[in-house]
Amino acid sequence: MRFKITVVGAGNVGATLTQRLAERNYADIVLVDIVEGLPQGKALDMLEAGPIVGYDSLVTGTNGYEETAGSDVVLITSGVARKPGMSRDDLVMTNATIVASVARQVAEQSPDSVIVVVSNPLDAMAQVAKAVSGFPRERVIGMAGVLDTARFRTFIARELDASVLDVAAYVLGGHGDTMVPLTSLTTVAGVPVSELIPAERLESIVQRARDGGAEIVALLKTGSAYYAPSAAAAQMTDAILLDTRQVLPCAVHLDGEYGIRGLYTGVPARLGAGGLVDVVEVALSDGDRAALHRSAASVQQLVDLMDSRRADIDPSMPALGEAVAVG
Ligand code: NAI
Ligand code: 2OP
Repeated sequence: MRFKITVVGAGNVGATLTQRLAERNYADIVLVDIVEGLPQGKALDMLEAGPIVGYDSLVTGTNGYEETAGSDVVLITSGVARKPGMSRDDLVMTNATIVASVARQVAEQSPDSVIVVVSNPLDAMAQVAKAVSGFPRERVIGMAGVLDTARFRTFIARELDASVLDVAAYVLGGHGDTMVPLTSLTTVAGVPVSELIPAERLESIVQRARDGGAEIVALLKTGSAYYAPSAAAAQMTDAILLDTRQVLPCAVHLDGEYGIRGLYTGVPARLGAGGLVDVVEVALSDGDRAALHRSAASVQQLVDLMDSRRADIDPSMPALGEAVAVG
């Protein structure tokens, strides 16, 4: 039996993601957008690529949710994207309203699905999707760490003329300026990166990874990155649908892991059938742990803002709550 995937948002990320998933040939995909004709046109175009590329994935487009019923995985990419000069956080109120409305309809139509949130600001939007859907944390996961880590791995590989596949790394924390690339756990073919790249140069690579989204926004001028983001979301979908149990850095609603409870932030997470299998706790230096907590605190600020304006976002949305530091 083929899997069923819904992608909400037929813009740059959503459409590219749909194409990547269609080419995997393991699922039928429903693409949803509010713009009339947009998801239908893009879906038909992708369907017609099937005979050339060699897939039988059915891709359909719609402006409603009935067609999405019974999806196994739902990826939410709807919302506005960054423009030059905007941070991801500038998107919070607009996208919270969009994500709340989408999550409500997804929960009605696909009550057993795993939701993967992509819309920004990522960790805050995952918090909204979980609250509105009422799903357990296992079934609402945010995509950011795979992307941030891929950028970091790319820059290290380019610096050393190494294969990206030989670079192992983690970028944790919120998907924002406070994200935490873990240089102490970064290796190239098993060799610690600190033995290969001088500290000052490594710090500038870390900073480039932190600014990776903004670098692309500045070049594109009319939107933000979508090739690497869609690849990241597709990798998470593979892990869930194919039950690979791969450990990927993802935004997870923490329940005491890393000393945080009640808040989404990026941590290594094992993904498999049903979504989150468990959070993997790697040993962090005191400095990295403090940086992770600072990053979580910046996510909490957005959560507080949304809680104070809950009536504007969705009057029936439950309170998003206060994270608790547990260690
Ligand atoms: P885009 O502007 O190309 O596409 C967004 C689409 O959402 C548009 O087609 C729009 O019509 C649709 N939309 C708006 N309201 C909707 C609703 N209520 N229901 C259904 N569709 C709706 O933007 P792009 O580049 O695809 O980015 C999408 C989101 O993903 C943005 O918030 C962006 O910041 C975020 N993003 C997150 C990344 C991450 O690492 N988590 C990486 C890249 C983008
Ligand atoms: C990125 O990192 C905009 O969050 C998006 O490219």
